[in-house]
Amino acid sequence: MITNLLRFLFTRSLRPFIFNNENKYGFNTDVPGVGIYVHIPFCTTLCPFCPYNKIKYDETLASSYKDALIREIHMVSTLNNKKNGITSVYFGGGSPALMLNELSDILTALKNNFYIKSNIGIELHPKDINKESLMKLKNVGFDMVSIGIQSFEEKCLKVLGREYINGAEKVKIAVASGFTTIDVDLMFGIKGQTKEDLKSDFTTAFNSGATQVSTYPFIDFSYANNQSKPLGKKHKKELFKYLETISKELQCTRTAVWTFGKKDIPKYSSITRDNFIGFGSSATTILRDFFKINTFSVTEYIRCINNNKIPTSLTLNFTKRTRALYWLFWNCYTLKIHNGHFKRLFNTELEHTFKLELWLGILLGLISKTKEGYELTKKGAYTYHLVEQAYTHHYIDKTWRILKQEAWPDEIKLY
Ligand SMILES: C[S@@+](CC[C@H](N)C(=O)[O-])C[C@H]1O[C@@H](n2cnc3c(N)ncnc32)[C@H](O)[C@@H]1O
Ligand code: SF4
Repeated sequence: MITNLLRFLFTRSLRPFIFNNENKYGFNTDVPGVGIYVHIPFCTTLCPFCPYNKIKYDETLASSYKDALIREIHMVSTLNNKKNGITSVYFGGGSPALMLNELSDILTALKNNFYIKSNIGIELHPKDINKESLMKLKNVGFDMVSIGIQSFEEKCLKVLGREYINGAEKVKIAVASGFTTIDVDLMFGIKGQTKEDLKSDFTTAFNSGATQVSTYPFIDFSYANNQSKPLGKKHKKELFKYLETISKELQCTRTAVWTFGKKDIPKYSSITRDNFIGFGSSATTILRDFFKINTFSVTEYIRCINNNKIPTSLTLNFTKRTRALYWLFWNCYTLKIHNGHFKRLFNTELEHTFKLELWLGILLGLISKTKEGYELTKKGAYTYHLVEQAYTHHYIDKTWRILKQEAWPDEIKLY
């Protein structure tokens, strides 16, 4: 299995990655340059393809959830005796705009407990977009949005099991509302989707005013309820390669393996942070030497917080090498591997830690040297696209499947 082989090659150990139920109630948050992620798990309809931790919206539950979130923010911020400086804030879900009236209190709690020096982003379901809702979001302090369009084509939305909404109009409302960054999430590899469909989706996004397009390969999670499976590897490859042609024609830059944007506009990128604190059910926290995941159960999350405990369900303690590998993996996603950045974080040379891997990467034509370090080649970007999907199938699928079934599992081993 590919993940087994790569784990062995990169960690130089046969040991799997082990998440255990060590209760991380207290942990060191005194780390420079931390991001924040807030998870809002509510949706009005549960899309069959979606793997995320989400439940049907319920007003009473959402109100208790808001109280719990604010308590968790207080609990975690007091672990550090000085206010952390925050370099990014993202609200994701679920459909966070369903808690439109509660978002202001949550943001106030964040601002009271941390120094927020960054843009503030939120994921939006197109259904939740109208002039009034976006004005409200702007007024409480959000300046970046990511809109889950998936496709502007009715036939693709139908295959995904989503009702048709005029996505272009929604993007235009976001433009008129004055957001700095407008990301459009698209999916490729949907049954029946052609190169022309993908090009038309891409063009419509930018012509409507998007500043960034994220195009995710459609993945069939084992616990999803997809009626039509994604296209096979060969078709997905054609679409992936075609993204390069489309982006060239539209004069936008590839800013990550699956993301394309306009130059000089802040990127919407919630996953590529060195250290971040996650609040809410299923939110993950990565700080220096550990990775922890909050319980996926919304009711258990609230119960745990009400008992004054931080709702950590599972923890993975990094070794120095696995921490550096985690960094390398996500930096490869952004296509750039920066020597100086690595040295600042790990106090050692990138080329010392990953001598063999970098040599192999160059030999196979996956990376090339730059002034600052390395960058992924076109072949490297495609290889990453394949590797990332393998990890999603073997690691994320397994972890989330178990966490959706059990609020407090004993252990998860990833091979
Ligand atoms: C948290 S989700 C959706 C946010 C928002 N609730 C919505 O529906 O628009 C973030 C993004 O993940 C992507 N995504 C969801 N399920 C996926 C899957 N099975 N394969 C690939 N990408 C997926 C979609 O592009 C989606 O917009
Ligand atoms: S895709 Fe969005 S709206 Fe659909 S279930 Fe997932 S988070 Fe909810």
